[in-house]
Amino acid sequence: MTVTAVVGAQWGDEGKGKIVDRLAEKYHIVARWNGGNNAGHTVITDDGKTLAFHNVPSGMRHKQVVNVIGNGEVVNLQSLLEEIEDLRSKGVEVTPDRLVLSDSTHLILPYYIEIEKRQEATRKIGTTGRAIGPTYTFKPDRTGIRVLDLLDNGRDFLKNVRHHLEEHEIKVNPEELLESQRRLLKQLQQYLRIEDTVEFFRKNKGADILLEGAQGILLDVDAGTYPYVTSSNSIPGGAYAGCLGIPAIDTVLLVMKAGYVTRVGHGPFPTEMGTERDLEDVKKGEEKLGEEDIERAKQGDPVSLAKYHRYIGGEYGTTTGRPRRVGHQDLVAAGYSRDVSNVAKGLGSVSVALTKLDVSDGLPSLRVCTSYKQDGTSSKRFPRDASLGEVEPVYEELEGWNENTRGLTRYSQLPSAAQRFVNFLEKRLGMSASLISTGPGREEIIDKSNQAYF
Ligand code: IMP
Repeated sequence: MTVTAVVGAQWGDEGKGKIVDRLAEKYHIVARWNGGNNAGHTVITDDGKTLAFHNVPSGMRHKQVVNVIGNGEVVNLQSLLEEIEDLRSKGVEVTPDRLVLSDSTHLILPYYIEIEKRQEATRKIGTTGRAIGPTYTFKPDRTGIRVLDLLDNGRDFLKNVRHHLEEHEIKVNPEELLESQRRLLKQLQQYLRIEDTVEFFRKNKGADILLEGAQGILLDVDAGTYPYVTSSNSIPGGAYAGCLGIPAIDTVLLVMKAGYVTRVGHGPFPTEMGTERDLEDVKKGEEKLGEEDIERAKQGDPVSLAKYHRYIGGEYGTTTGRPRRVGHQDLVAAGYSRDVSNVAKGLGSVSVALTKLDVSDGLPSLRVCTSYKQDGTSSKRFPRDASLGEVEPVYEELEGWNENTRGLTRYSQLPSAAQRFVNFLEKRLGMSASLISTGPGREEIIDKSNQAYF
């Protein structure tokens, strides 16, 4: 039995979907413990289809895997139905014997979106607009709606909905809403089964389990760059509360982009190339990268460099289509993510999967932030308050490589400068890079761990 947690080390969008899909070949269960349809995990199949997972775990393509939507996820039933129908239209089988929905998962009701919209007008977090915040807020408020509340006589559903409607001055018919949610759940039961995960994991004792984190550690509500965070626990420790009944985690695999970092939404971003405002007019599918931009990027112009990474790396949101902010690799942040991931049992049980190495091909040099300077002193501490917005990153410049790394599958094939770059990250983080992804396709990956994962 082995339990592995795959977690984003940055602000999400590290490429976890592909890693989970690849690793899932070796596991019996893939389970999610946080987030909702704010997440967008992309998997590209061998025949070139792009699958976008939002609530459904990314192990769904593998016929031996049972997938679990844990109690710590939040689910919009209408969106879940659309996600499943989309997966099915692309040939992914979704059946009740292979998809479990926890009976205590909290539901995102349609009117929560209006509540979030009003909040966002003043708070300006840059949320995904999926009402993730209100849903998680109603949980400790003890007025949340769980899957269970659609299965009984509906008393708690109606009581809590009436309370929200009054508090937020929203007009909706609670009885009609209850009926429509029940209808949706019934439709979904063609594709999934509702179960208590404590029972599920007890029955599946000894199974190999892959835990799939959504978002990233720097967006975690406790560990992240508060208040510019999501509302759930994306740290690996969150899995214990968000997927009730799981056994102890053996290994944590931190997923991070190799040559750069991205962030969507507002909030401090010390190594950002250019500024957030440079992105105001950028639209997915409309951005172009000309020869001049490439030349300027190679000379180190920050705005062109950000554009270069966004364009080559396809850095536009899977869920919202928003262009992502881009920054230089930040080892202060990554070291912090490593330290909050120290929940696994054995020594050396946290390792790294580096993604998108190929996006850095052709750049003459890469800057890596190794400490932050504040008030004249350097430190490797990652501040968790507004002072993160004031630190001055201290960079080391590493030699780039001109060769193409796209699709390489063996470490020895990497250009020596790319190997030196990977070694530098490993040494500074004190962790080995077990996997290195060299392109979006399933096979475009280097297993540096010598079969520890594949
Ligand atoms: P929310 O999760 O919609 O409440 O948004 C809160 C913050 O988390 C915003 O900055 C979002 O852009 C960010 N966020 C939420 N989910 C993801 C994700 O899957 N990838 C990257 N950023 C995310």
